Amino acid sequence: MSDKQKKTIFSGVQPSGKLTLGNYLGAIRNFPILQEEYNCVYCVVDMHAITVRQDPPSLRRSTLEVLAQYIACGLDPEKSILFIQSHVPAHAELAWVLNCYTMFGEASRMTQFKDKSAKHTDNVNVGLFSYPVLMAADILLYQTDLVPVGVDQSQHIELTRDIANRFNGVYSDTFTIPEGYYPKAGEGAKVMSLSDPERKMSKSDENENGYILLMDQPEVIMRKFKRAVTDSEARIVMDPVGKPGVSNLLQIYALATGKTVAEAENEFAGKGYGEFKPAVGEAVVELLRPIRETTEDLLKNKDYLEKVYTEGAQKANYLARKTLDKVYRKVGFVAR
Ligand code: TYM
Repeated sequence: MSDKQKKTIFSGVQPSGKLTLGNYLGAIRNFPILQEEYNCVYCVVDMHAITVRQDPPSLRRSTLEVLAQYIACGLDPEKSILFIQSHVPAHAELAWVLNCYTMFGEASRMTQFKDKSAKHTDNVNVGLFSYPVLMAADILLYQTDLVPVGVDQSQHIELTRDIANRFNGVYSDTFTIPEGYYPKAGEGAKVMSLSDPERKMSKSDENENGYILLMDQPEVIMRKFKRAVTDSEARIVMDPVGKPGVSNLLQIYALATGKTVAEAENEFAGKGYGEFKPAVGEAVVELLRPIRETTEDLLKNKDYLEKVYTEGAQKANYLARKTLDKVYRKVGFVAR
C-alpha cells in the first residue's frame, strides 16, 4: 500500500517524570505494531508537561529519555516520525486558533483538568485548562485517523472530535475526524496502582510502590510486586469489582507473558499470593529488561538521538504546516 492510501496514526506521551508500566501496556506497547500498516507520527509532548511545574534540567533529560524509550520499545525512526512537540511551532499556533472554537463549558468538564487542579491548587494555570485544546491541535495537524491511547484519554479524544466537527461545520472539511484506538478491557486499557488498585497507575502517585517504572531495576520491581495490595481471600481469579488487586496483577501477568488470563488463572489455581506475586514480578522484570538496557545504551548516544529528533521535526513540520496553512486561509488570515 502506498503512503497516500495508508491511514495516519498520531500519539504522544508527556515527559513529566518517568514512564510507567501503565504507559507501556496502555499505549506505547501498541505503537510499533501499528508502524507497519499505518503512517505513524509519535511525539514527546514537552509543551503539555509544563502545565505543571517542571525542573528544567529534569524536563530536558526526561524528554530525551522518552524518545530513547520509544526506540527501545520498537519504534523505528525510518518507519515512524519521532519528534519533540516544541520543535514544531504549528502545535502552538493551531492550539491558539482552536482555543477560539472550544467552549469554556466544554473545557471545564474535563476530568483530567479537575483532578490536576485539585492536586496543584497553588498553580491552576490557564495552560492546564486549555491542555486538551493543545492535544486536539497535536492530533488534527496530521489529519489523524487513529489515536492509540489508554482509556483515561477518551474524554480528550471526544473533545478533539467535537472541535474538529465544529470547525469543519463552519468552514467546510478541513480536519479528518480522528478515533481513539484503545486496548481491550483487561488488555492494558487501564493498568491500576499496585498500592491502591481502585486508582490508575500513575507516575504522579505519591506512593512509589504504586507504580512500576520502565527504568526500575529488577530488585525494585520485585519488591514493589511483593508489596502489591491484594485481598484476604487466597484465590487467583479475574474479578475486577470484587478483587481489583488480584485482577490487575493477573492482567499484568498475562500481558507480560503473552498468556491469556484464563491460562494464567489455571497456572495459579490452588496456589497462594506468596507464589503469585513474585511470579508476576519476574514476568515484568523480563518484559522490561531489554527496554531498560536499550534505553540506557541510547542515552549514551546523544548524537544519534539528536539526529532522530531533528529529522523527525523536519518531516512533522512539513505535514503540520500544510494543515495550518489551510486553517489560516479558512479563518481569513492574509497569506504570508
Ligand atoms: P500521558 O503522558 O499521561 O500518558 C501516555 C499514555 O499512557 C496511557 N496511560 C495508561 N494506560 C493504561 N493504564 C494506565 N495506568 C495509564 N497511564 C497512562 C495514556 O492513556 C496515554 O496514552 N494527554 C496525553 C498526552 C498527549 C497525547 C496527545 C496523546 C498529548 N497530546 C495527542 C495522544 C494524542 C497524556 O497525558 O498522556
